[in-house]
Amino acid sequence: MLSVRNIAKRLPDGRLLLKNISFEVEKGEFVGILGESGVGKTVLLRCINGLTQPDHGEVIINGINGDGGPQKINEKRGQELRKIRRKIGMIFQGSILVKRLSVLENVLTGGLGRISTVRSLLYGFTDEEVDSALGAIDKVGIRSLAYRRAETLSGGEMQRAAIARAIFQEPCLLLADEPVSNLDPKNTEAVLDYLKPLTQEMAIIGVFHAPKIVSQYCTRAIGIRDGNVVYDGNPFLSDNTLEAIYSTGKHAPGATVDKTFPSPRETVTEWKQEDKDGAAMQIS
Ligand SMILES: Nc1ncnc2c1ncn2[C@@H]1O[C@H](COP(=O)(O)OP(=O)(O)OP(=O)(O)O)[C@@H](O)[C@H]1O
Ligand SMILES: [Mg+2]
Repeated sequence: MLSVRNIAKRLPDGRLLLKNISFEVEKGEFVGILGESGVGKTVLLRCINGLTQPDHGEVIINGINGDGGPQKINEKRGQELRKIRRKIGMIFQGSILVKRLSVLENVLTGGLGRISTVRSLLYGFTDEEVDSALGAIDKVGIRSLAYRRAETLSGGEMQRAAIARAIFQEPCLLLADEPVSNLDPKNTEAVLDYLKPLTQEMAIIGVFHAPKIVSQYCTRAIGIRDGNVVYDGNPFLSDNTLEAIYSTGKHAPGATVDKTFPSPRETVTEWKQEDKDGAAMQIS
C-alpha cells in the first residue's frame, strides 16, 4: 500500500539527514518508528505525506482515489498532491488544533482539508458531514466535548480530537508523530486503544519514544539511526536491537522499566513552510 524507496533528504545546512530509507507498509499494519531525537523521524513522515520533498527516492502509495493505481507522492504538486494527501491522515507532534474553534469545527475543517472557510463553518457542511464528524468524535470518547473550544481541552482530549479529525478524513494511511508523547499513562493507553483498531481500515505509521509502547501496540517496529533503517521487524525489541537503534540501548525509554513514558518535552522544529499546503495543514 505504501512504498518508501531509497529516500534521502539533505538539510539546508548540507547535512545528509536521511541517507537511504526503504520500507513497505500494508493495510492492517501498525508500524512504530523509533530513533533518537533529531534522527529525522518527523522529516521522514513529512516526506511520506508530501509536505516536504526528498532529495532522492520515491514515496509510492497504492489504492487511493478508487482506481487503485500506484501514485508517486513525491512527483505530485498542487491539486493532485492535495487530493492524495486527503487520504493520508496526520496527527502532528503535539497535536495541532485550531484553538479558537470547537472540536467539531476542527474535525470538519481538518478532515476535509478545508481551512479557508472557517468563518462560515457550520453552514458550509452538509448534515451528513456533521453527523459523520460527530460519529468520529464519539468514537474517541469525547462526544460531550464536541462544541467546546479546542483551547479548553486537556492534552489527552486534544490528542483524541486529533484522532477524530483523522478518522473523519477516512484516510488509507495514518501518520502519527508522537501521538502520546505528552500524555500521562492513562491517556496514553486511551489514545492508543483508539488508534489500534483503526488498522482494520488503514495502515498506521506512528513515531514513538518508548519501545515498550511499540511492543504493546504495534505490529512492527522500524528503527532509524544515522539516516538508515537499522531494524525492521517484530515489535519486541531485544537489548541488542535497542543498542543498534539508540547509542545506549539500555537507557532507552522503556527498555528496562516496565511502565516508562517519555517525559513531557517540547520539540521545536523550525519549519520553513515549504509549500502552501504544508502551511495550511499546520495552522494553529
Ligand atoms: N526545515 C528544516 N531546516 C533545518 N533543519 C531542519 C529542518 N527540519 C528539520 N531539521 C533538522 O533535522 C533534524 C531532524 O529533525 P526531526 O524533526 O525529523 O527529528 P526527530 O527525529 O523527529 O526528532 P524528535 O524525536 O526530537 O521529534 C533536526 O536536527 C532538525 O533540527
Ligand atoms: Mg519529531
